[in-house]
Amino acid sequence: MRLLLASSEVHPFSKTGGLADMVGALAKALAADGHEVMIVTPLYRGISEKFGPFKRLDYHLDLVLGDRSVVGSVQTFAMAPRLDVYFIEQPAFFDRASLYQQDGNDYSDNAERFIYFSKAVAHLARYLPNPPQVVHVHDWQAGLVPLLIKDQKKNAGWTAAPASCLTIHNLAYQGFFDAGDFTLTNLPTEYFRPDGVEFYKGLNCLKAAIMYSDMLTTVSPRYAREITTEILGCGLDGVLRNRQDALVGILNGVDYGEWNTTDNKFLRQNYSIDNLEGKAADKAALQAELGLPVNHSVPVFGSVTRLAEQKGVDIQLGALEEMLSTGLQFVLLGSGAPVYEAAYRRLARRLPSRAAIRIGYDHGLAHRIEAGSDFFLMPSRFEPCGLNQMYSLRYGTIPIVRVTGGLDDSVIDLAENADEANGIKFQDYSTRALTKAIRKALIIYADTELHRHLQLNGMAANFSWETTCKQYEDVYLRALERNRNLP
Ligand code: ADP
Ligand code: GLC
Repeated sequence: MRLLLASSEVHPFSKTGGLADMVGALAKALAADGHEVMIVTPLYRGISEKFGPFKRLDYHLDLVLGDRSVVGSVQTFAMAPRLDVYFIEQPAFFDRASLYQQDGNDYSDNAERFIYFSKAVAHLARYLPNPPQVVHVHDWQAGLVPLLIKDQKKNAGWTAAPASCLTIHNLAYQGFFDAGDFTLTNLPTEYFRPDGVEFYKGLNCLKAAIMYSDMLTTVSPRYAREITTEILGCGLDGVLRNRQDALVGILNGVDYGEWNTTDNKFLRQNYSIDNLEGKAADKAALQAELGLPVNHSVPVFGSVTRLAEQKGVDIQLGALEEMLSTGLQFVLLGSGAPVYEAAYRRLARRLPSRAAIRIGYDHGLAHRIEAGSDFFLMPSRFEPCGLNQMYSLRYGTIPIVRVTGGLDDSVIDLAENADEANGIKFQDYSTRALTKAIRKALIIYADTELHRHLQLNGMAANFSWETTCKQYEDVYLRALERNRNLP
C-alpha cells in the first residue's frame, strides 16, 4: 500500500513524548514490510542543521488560512528504502524554540499553526506524484486532515481521494479553539455543528478527526474501551461510542533497534538476558552521574516523564515523602508543569543523598535511567499506552504501574500469573496504594531469586513492531473498504 503518516512529532527529528517514538517506529516497520511510506511533519528549528541538508521540492504551499494566504515549502529526505519524510517549512509557524508551548503556556497561534499543517498534509496527499491510498493522521494536530479530504472529495473534484485513519494517542489533548478559529479552515459552515466539528460552541480538532476518519485506532486495547466511558472519555465518549464499530485498540510496539541493552551507545556497559553484569555497572554509573552514593545494595527507583497531571506526579510525590526514609534512592528526569518541577527540585534539595532530579530533556539520560534503575515508576492517572514500562521490561528494570490503559495491557503482576509475572501493579489512584506497591518492590528486591524471575520474564517479553504493524495493515484495509463504499 501507499501510506502517508501525518504527525506533529516524529523521532528522531522532533519529540516531546511517545507520539514521536510511535510514529517513527510504525513508519519504519511498515516500510520494512514492503509498503511505500511517506511521513509529513513540520520542519522545526534545528532539524535541517542536525539531519540535513534535505532536498527542496519544487513546491509552493500557497494555502489560504482564513482571510490570508500563507506560503510555505516542502523539503524531503529519503530516510530508508520506501520511507520518505516530507517536512513542511513555514518558519513563522515552526522555527521556534519548542513544539507547542513556551513557559508552560500553549502558543497563542496553535490553531493557525496546525490548521496550516493539516492543509499542507491534505495538499501533499492530493498532489504528490505517487499519491497515498491511505492517510493516517495522529492526534489533534493533524485532526482536520480527514475532513479536508472528505470535503475536497465532495466539493472540489478529488475523485480518487484516499481513505483516512486516525490514531488517538491521548484523548486529553483535543486541540479545542474558539468558534472564530473555524474560519481558518475555510470549510463550509455546515461542518460547524454538534454532529460535526463543533464542541461546546468551539472548534475541536480531535473531534473532527473522530467524526470524519474512515477508521479510528488508539494505542492499547484497554484504552480503546476506557475512552468510551464517561470517566476517561474527556467529553468525547458519546462521540466515540457512536463510532465504536470503527474503533480498534492496538498496543504500541517497541523499536528494539533503538531501545535495547545489547548495542546501546548511551550506556556505560551493554548487557543481555544471558549476562546481567553490565546492568550493575550501569547502576553504579547512574548513581555517580547523578551525584547519589554509589551503593549496589540500595534499590534505585527511576522515572522519565512529562511532568503532567496524567503521569501521577502528585501521588508519586506523596509516596516518596514516606518511602525515601526507608533507604531507597529515586532518580527522575522530566519536564513540564512549573509547579511539579519546583516540587521535585525541593525534594532533591531536602534529601540530596536519596533523590536526584534532572529537569529538562535528555535522550541519553533516559536510556541510562532505564538501564541503571532497579524499578521504574509509572503511577499514571490514565495512560493510553505508555512506552517507558515496555522499555523498562527489556532493560531488566521492573515496572511499577497503575492498572490503567496500556500499562495494564503490557505488564503482568504476580497475582495475575506467578510464572509469567514481570512487574508490579496497583489499582487505586492514591498515595497509599502506590506506597504499598513500593513496599512490595522492596520485598521482591530482597528476594534475589524472585527479583531475577521477574527481571528475566520482562527481558524476554516481546513487543516488536513486526506483529503490531500487521494489525495496522488490517485497519488500513478496512479504511479502504469503507472509503470505497462511501458516496
Ligand atoms: P507520553 O507520550 O505520554 O509522554 P510515553 O511513555 O508513551 O509517554 O513516552 C514517553 C517518551 O518520552 C519515552 O521515549 C521517554 O523516554 C521520553 N521522555 C519523556 N520525558 C523525557 C525527558 N525529560 N527526557 C528524555 N526523554 C523523555
Ligand atoms: C501519548 C500517550 C502515551 C502513549 C504515546 C504513544 O503521548 O500519553 O501513553 O504511549 O502517546 O502512543
